[in-house]
Amino acid sequence: VTAAAAPVVDRSRAENLDRADPLARFRERFVFADPDVIYLCGNSLGPPSRAGVAAIDGAIAAWSRRLVDGWEDWLDLPSRIGDRMAGPLLGARRGEVIVSDSTSVNLYKLAAAALGAAAPRSVIVADASDFPTDRYVLAALPAALRLISDGGTAAPTAASVAAVLDADVALVCLSHIGYLSGAVADMAAITAVVHDAGALMLWDLSHSVGCYPIDLESAGVDLAVGCTYKYLSAGPGAPALLYVRSEQQRRLRQPIWGWFGQRDQFAMGPDYDPWPDVRQFLVGTPPVLALAGIGGSIDVVAEAGIGAIRAKALALGELAMDLYRAWLPGLGFRLGSPLEGPARGSHVGLRHGDAQRIHRELGAAGRIVTDFRFPDTIRMGLAPLTTRFVDVWDALAALRQLSY
Ligand SMILES: Cc1ncc(COP(=O)(O)O)c(C=O)c1O
Repeated sequence: VTAAAAPVVDRSRAENLDRADPLARFRERFVFADPDVIYLCGNSLGPPSRAGVAAIDGAIAAWSRRLVDGWEDWLDLPSRIGDRMAGPLLGARRGEVIVSDSTSVNLYKLAAAALGAAAPRSVIVADASDFPTDRYVLAALPAALRLISDGGTAAPTAASVAAVLDADVALVCLSHIGYLSGAVADMAAITAVVHDAGALMLWDLSHSVGCYPIDLESAGVDLAVGCTYKYLSAGPGAPALLYVRSEQQRRLRQPIWGWFGQRDQFAMGPDYDPWPDVRQFLVGTPPVLALAGIGGSIDVVAEAGIGAIRAKALALGELAMDLYRAWLPGLGFRLGSPLEGPARGSHVGLRHGDAQRIHRELGAAGRIVTDFRFPDTIRMGLAPLTTRFVDVWDALAALRQLSY
């Protein structure tokens, strides 16, 4: 690298990027009680959106006013919110998405249903470096788990998945964006090789929904789940999305037979007779206040536009990578994420032998909130609607200072 080609690393570059940022105004749509905190954890828990808070307040007011009559409006919220999310955020059709339960429970429902429909196939392929809940839930199913491993910082590829497929595989379950590395998997290419082998494909969208363009329909995806409390800012523990492609809905039967999956719910009949559509994947009473919060945030993401959100994620990541290369490798840091922008989602993993101490001191001294993932990764979420370029600069400068 010549001196002329070296990236500019002084803070004015970040300030200029903030001034030119078409999404800068969206930060005001979110609530930060302490403006001095630099929040780089939106990939774990998004900050509250003002629209989400207003929607939750509205739901509380409706609860106090209408009491039990409120259920006239609330019963179908999981489908209504799912339909609002389907087009703009998932590239899905109406009637393919519901919002219910946690991602872990939705993953169980879908994986068990897929397994049931695929008999006598009885192997599930998953990623050894995927989020723990995904591996645990799949391991508990009556199937043999076949784990692939691409070494931690790279996403699985169509070739690495194809290499483990055969006529025994019922289901492949992978994360679209890796929770630790931020590496992006090629959804369409992997789904295609899985279908060629006669298996179903289930994607965990937890780290991509709201920050990365997703087109489930054109990618041919069968099943998907994902958290809403990360880039969708739906609030701590808000219920998760669940997607079932229309063509698969009648073939599958989920294992938790609850009364919200029942076609004629209030007939209180003796036998379980589920909806012949995505609603069969509902189980019990929906969390109305949390669902209201999701509704508010979906609109903010849709208004900003997922294309603009992705463009800013790339720009934030490029700044982080330039600063990383200029300052950190000589101080014991290694990159835990792909270096190339297109291969990375909205978060970055930085690895260091002393990561736990550095993470703690970042929070204490610099009031910079990141997260630490055992054993050596500091994860920084660069959430495009709320993260400023100067936040990235200040955080990397603090990392440089704290590494000794
Ligand atoms: C990729 C991924 N999948 C699943 C989960 C678990 O979600 P939940 O706790 O809502 O079940 C998480 C949580 O952070 C996650 O990052």
